[in-house]
Amino acid sequence: MAETSVPSAGVPNAPASPRRVTAPAVAAFKGRGAPVVMVTAYDAPSARIADGAGVDVILVGDSLANVVLGYDDTLQVTIDDMEHHVGAVARTQPRALVVGDLPWLSYHVSTADTVTNAARLIRAGAGAVKLEGGRKRLEAVRAILDAEIPVMGHLGLTPQSVHALGGFRVQGKDLEAARAIVDDAVALAEAGCFAVVLECVPDAVARLVTDTVPIPTIGIGAGRHCDGQVLVFHDVLGLEERVTPKFVRRYANLADDARAALERFAEDVRGGRFPASDETYHAADNVADMMIAVYGGDDASPSSDASDGVEAPHPA
Ligand code: KIV
Repeated sequence: MAETSVPSAGVPNAPASPRRVTAPAVAAFKGRGAPVVMVTAYDAPSARIADGAGVDVILVGDSLANVVLGYDDTLQVTIDDMEHHVGAVARTQPRALVVGDLPWLSYHVSTADTVTNAARLIRAGAGAVKLEGGRKRLEAVRAILDAEIPVMGHLGLTPQSVHALGGFRVQGKDLEAARAIVDDAVALAEAGCFAVVLECVPDAVARLVTDTVPIPTIGIGAGRHCDGQVLVFHDVLGLEERVTPKFVRRYANLADDARAALERFAEDVRGGRFPASDETYHAADNVADMMIAVYGGDDASPSSDASDGVEAPHPA
């Protein structure tokens, strides 16, 4: 697929360009007036849906841990898990930029480990990586950039620091904390990050960061004064029902729809209504008759259907 260095969504409601979105293309959204649209996805079907909807960036987030793998926080996922899921998303060859989240401890121990782990996500198909933290993580950011891998920053509520932060709380609420977030964002931008996520900060803080840094800010729970917005796939679609943070807008209730569909499937199976004849492969009449003659059985079975070819149950 061809590469492009310009944003494809410069006009509201414009159809998505077929060209693949790159990290420099995302950086170029800054100041263009078109917001960056990012959503998480963790597997091939969700990546196809997200890309089909025309999002600019698919984040294979470490929220994989709590959204998909059943853990309580993101500290449980490993670089192996992330590589596995980045691969699943990337194999769908989306137009959107695939950003792979570096999990906790994959960039905290040594510079060599940091670069190797970032490279694993790139080799799995990501076009960029994301990591949490500001000035404290500059060495890691610089090393990854030095290996020619684009880096997205992440400030504010950084879930990998949940224990250090004392829980999942809005960050940057006082002047000093707000100042630290701005300084961290400036440091990440100066180091060469192409964009920065701002999670759960007051809108005034997000506005200040957005007005200060030359790279796009992508907000989640950070209000409208950001250069883009990101939400978690399962939150947007109502597949995650256990918690709904204030900043989530649900655009569908797919968990309800899925439950209702599976209830109907169960009723049909239990009531003998599934599968129907046209959902069944039939042997040719003579073969069916012979089988009944040899083995006995129900001769009231439907006769053969000349159109019964063997087909793959799902497209490859
Ligand atoms: O892992 C994730 O889903 C994220 C988003 C909240 C930005 O980092």
